[in-house]
Amino acid sequence: MDSILVKGNGPLNGAIPIAGAKNACLALMPATLLSEEPLTLTNAPRLSDIRTMTSLLQSLGAEVSSLQDGKVITMSSHGVLNPTADYDIVRKMRASNLVLGPLLARLGHAVVSLPGGCAIGARPMDIHIDALAALGAEIDLRDGYLHAKTQGGLTGAVHEMRFASVGATENFVMAATLAKGTSVLSNAAREPEIVDLVHCLRRMGAEIEGEGTPTITIQGVTALRGATHPVVTDRIELGTYMLAPAICGGEVECLGGRIDLLAAFCEKLDAAGISVTETERGLKVARRNGRVRAVDVVTEPFPGFPTDLQAQMMALLCTAEGTSVLEERIFENRFMHAPELMRMGARIEVHGGHATVTGVERLRGAPVMATDLRASVSLILAGLAAEGETVVSRVYHLDRGYERVEEKLSACGAKIERIKGGA
Ligand code: EPZ
Repeated sequence: MDSILVKGNGPLNGAIPIAGAKNACLALMPATLLSEEPLTLTNAPRLSDIRTMTSLLQSLGAEVSSLQDGKVITMSSHGVLNPTADYDIVRKMRASNLVLGPLLARLGHAVVSLPGGCAIGARPMDIHIDALAALGAEIDLRDGYLHAKTQGGLTGAVHEMRFASVGATENFVMAATLAKGTSVLSNAAREPEIVDLVHCLRRMGAEIEGEGTPTITIQGVTALRGATHPVVTDRIELGTYMLAPAICGGEVECLGGRIDLLAAFCEKLDAAGISVTETERGLKVARRNGRVRAVDVVTEPFPGFPTDLQAQMMALLCTAEGTSVLEERIFENRFMHAPELMRMGARIEVHGGHATVTGVERLRGAPVMATDLRASVSLILAGLAAEGETVVSRVYHLDRGYERVEEKLSACGAKIERIKGGA
């Protein structure tokens, strides 16, 4: 298993290109199952999760090819499809459950393995099941698999979700595109990745309104056509790299960055004393002077502060002036990075969904372990500002959601390298 060695090396200066969004691409790829014609995604990120989704789609009978070193992905599912998403693939990546809605809509039945446990929370699928059941699907759980079927296809319906789940919104919207009649989803998730999915579905001929608002209306159509769609910028990768100069000092321009994708996050950076300015190429981030100011953070569904930036924000607040309180409201177990940051000298107290961080002058390098995707990169950010060396192990977590981290950070002056193999 690879690990990453980071040495604190002072301020960062330079530019970092931001890739296409993992969480958009993982919803866009299953959309190919809705049409017999090819779907091409451009600006796709090169990540292990995208390769896992590729294997899943291929196991369902789709053809997937890529160009430009993986930045362009073309998929086609015109042949006979296999309705079963196997546990062996699904257990590697929860987002595999995003094939359920499209398979149901296309075939009228589907068998999708339940993903099983996850480090950051229980993550059940009850909201997905209720939403698809509203469209007429009969779903039961047998031998760890969701068996879903319809009597003569899906039928449009009005449905309110008990929580604005991202994945359940995506499954419902994709399924409803081919349902008979009109569907209205209320308390829908509003994330930019959902907006991007709807834009792609519209290119494929779907009739949808209200994306980005709590109410999405879908007029079912009989068939969808092929399309080419550019994947939206990855706002979580963007936020992560915006925190690098915030933690180390210096000035970094994030190419392709957009403030509208991260307004709540940018407000917190401003309150902490970090300047964010829009440029022609993206966003420029600089730490004005002196220490970062402590700020309180509460994670919420979009447009609130993203839970996927909570760990990285905690790394910043470890050396802030004063005490910050972070409240994690989305996942019940998403502070696993805290004990690792404490190994680096951070002062953090965790009580349930609250973490109190009392800023220290400086962190010290130490061997630490990644526990999940966002935790892994928060440890790298902390290592960039720490005294001495930090070795982050189990970075396979990192490769799921960040492409070429070492290259992107060392281009701005960071001392960072990958150590191949080892424990
Ligand atoms: C998406 O996960 C993202 N993943 C997550 O990013 C992100 O953290 C999350 O949305 C919230 O923003 C992808 O898009 C692939 P949810 P998803 O359904 O769709 C509970 C990352 O780091 N819930 O909105 O799984 C659930 O347990 C990943 O890139 C139910 O109880 O998130 C959680 O507590 C991590 N029942 C909350 O809702 C359900 O049926 C939010 O989950 C569904 C969800």
